[in-house]
Amino acid sequence: MGRGDLEPADIVRFEEDGPTVVLLDQRRLPDEVVELECRTVEELVVAIRELAVRGAPAIGIAAAYGVALAAARGDDLDAAAAALAASRPTAVNLTWALAEMRHDPSAAHARRLHEEEVARCRAMAAHAAELFGPGTRALTHCNAGGLATGGYGSAVGALRAAWERGLLAHVWVDETRPLLQGSRLTAWELETAGIPHAVIADSAAASLMAAGEVDCVVTGADRIAANGDTANKIGTYSLAVLAAHHDLPFYVVAPTSTIDLDTPTGADIPIEERSGAELTARFPARNPAFDVTPAELITAIVTEHGVRQPVAP
Ligand code: MRU
Repeated sequence: MGRGDLEPADIVRFEEDGPTVVLLDQRRLPDEVVELECRTVEELVVAIRELAVRGAPAIGIAAAYGVALAAARGDDLDAAAAALAASRPTAVNLTWALAEMRHDPSAAHARRLHEEEVARCRAMAAHAAELFGPGTRALTHCNAGGLATGGYGSAVGALRAAWERGLLAHVWVDETRPLLQGSRLTAWELETAGIPHAVIADSAAASLMAAGEVDCVVTGADRIAANGDTANKIGTYSLAVLAAHHDLPFYVVAPTSTIDLDTPTGADIPIEERSGAELTARFPARNPAFDVTPAELITAIVTEHGVRQPVAP
C-alpha cells in the first residue's frame, strides 16, 4: 500500500481466514497507515462509531461485511444487523446495505455490493466532470474520497475525473472541524492523485469566494431526502448559503444508495450528535456532526444515473 493510492480492499475487506473485517484505521491517517481487525460485530460497531471507518458508502460496505462476519461466525443475524444499524444514525447507506444483505448474508454478496458501489462512484464522477469548465477552482468539504466510499470517491471522484480531463486547476480543502476529515484525509488523497490543492480553515471559505478564487463547491452526501434536501458533514449548509450569495454553483455528488425516498424532507433526517469532548476537553459543548442543506440551495445532485437539478431554476 502506497501513500493515498488505495485499492478498495485496502480500505475495507472481509477475510474468511479469521474470520475478520479488516479496516484501514482512518483515525490515524495521514501520519500512520495502520489496519484494524474486527473479529466480532461488536468490535466493528465500535470501529464505525469511533470513525475508524467513516463516510456514508464506506460505512454501508463495512456493515455489509459485518453481516458476512456474523454469518461466518454463526451469530444471530437479526441481532447483528440491529447493532450495526444503531452504530451511526445519519448515513442511510448503512440501513440500505443491511437491507441488501438480508436475503444473502454471504461474503461474496458483500464483496459484490462493494464493487458495485465503487462502480457507481466512477460513473457519477464522469457525469459530474461534465459540469466543470476549464481551469475550475473547486472547494470541497469533509472527505468524500475513496476512503469515504470504499474506493475512488464521490465528490473527490468528481475532482479526480475533472483533473484527468484537464478541467480542474485547484482544490480548496476545508479542514472540516472538529475531526479534520478534510485536512487529514482529502488532502492526503489529493496529494496522492497529484491534484493541486490547499487546506483552508473552514471560516476562510467566505473571503475566498468574495475574492473570486472559488468557481464551484462540490461535496458528498450522507442522506438525500425525497425532496432533495441533503444531509452532509456539519458546515456544508454554511457553504451552500455562501455559494448562493456569491452566485456559485453548489454540487452534491452521491450514489443512489444515499438517496432515501422514505424520508420526505431534510427535517426528517436524524442528525448525529457526537460527544462535546471532540470540541473541548473542558467546557460544555454541542457537537452536531451533520447539517441539512435545503434542496433550493443545491444547483445539481449527481448520481451514477446522471445530473439532476433538485429544484427547477
Ligand atoms: O462523519 P463522517 O466522516 O462519516 O462524515 C462523512 C461526510 O459527511 C462526508 O462529507 C461525505 O460527503 C459523505 S460520505 C461520501
